[in-house]
Amino acid sequence: MSATKVHSRCPRSGLGNQNTPGAGSGYRVGPQSRVGLLPTFEDRKYRHPVPGRPWAGIPSPPVRTASERRELLKAVYEEARECTRCPLSQTRTTVVFGAGNADADLMFIGEAPGANEDRMGLPFVGQAGKLLDKLLAEIGLDRKDVWICNVLKCRPPDNRDPNPNEIEACQDYLRRQVDLIEPTVICTLGNFSTKLLREDTTGISRLHGREEVRIIGPRAVRLYPLYHPAAALYTPSTLEALRTDFHRIPELLALGPPEQPEVSEPIPELDDLAKADEDEDEPTMGEPEPAAQLGLF
Ligand code: URA
Repeated sequence: MSATKVHSRCPRSGLGNQNTPGAGSGYRVGPQSRVGLLPTFEDRKYRHPVPGRPWAGIPSPPVRTASERRELLKAVYEEARECTRCPLSQTRTTVVFGAGNADADLMFIGEAPGANEDRMGLPFVGQAGKLLDKLLAEIGLDRKDVWICNVLKCRPPDNRDPNPNEIEACQDYLRRQVDLIEPTVICTLGNFSTKLLREDTTGISRLHGREEVRIIGPRAVRLYPLYHPAAALYTPSTLEALRTDFHRIPELLALGPPEQPEVSEPIPELDDLAKADEDEDEPTMGEPEPAAQLGLF
């Protein structure tokens, strides 16, 4: 089975159906003909679309080829390698950016690198990673089919939980990874990534195995919270739940991308409006035109 994008068709259209619980409410598919006119990744320059809500939507995902994704991802990696945005930069051995297929439809987001990951520079290479590999194999996938990364790119000393300031400093890298890879399904592994992407404090034991369509950056994705493999290593009931949930991933991938948010029209700058006013005939007093009224709301 494959978990990478099909490029013979527009990667953002025509894959699977839109038959998802939670989809269809409030989203409309934008006109595909506009896609080529949309801003590039570079144009957007990673600006946070909604102040204070970096995971909320911005308009207009550009269409990229697999090699464009790879090159852009490499550029983000180069930046992350030098990162000094939080104190973890002083204690890390290696920045663990993420690994796998930049063109993947399926993305896994864990918590933070541990000692093995810090040493090797790769995510999920310890016992939890071995379990992840095993579960992937059970559904006919391996690491080269998917993208695997973490909320934090650097190891917290003694494997302590990520601190809020570290998550805040690091989340921009994760957001850019999601923006570039454009996964169809994101599996959040454990509480930290689930809470971050859902912007909500609901815990993993209530949410695991419940897929939902969420707007992440410019796109709608199928968000699928799972127990963290490390939590399943020593607790048989958690392992059983993780395995059951994991085995539903192919079904979610087969649905294809959820319906995408409508591409919004650019809002004319005030200057443009003033210019348009100047170009008009002298306005007459009285009732405003209905069209002008509508434009105010
Ligand atoms: N746990 C994580 O969350 N990520 C890793 O990379 C390894 C263990």
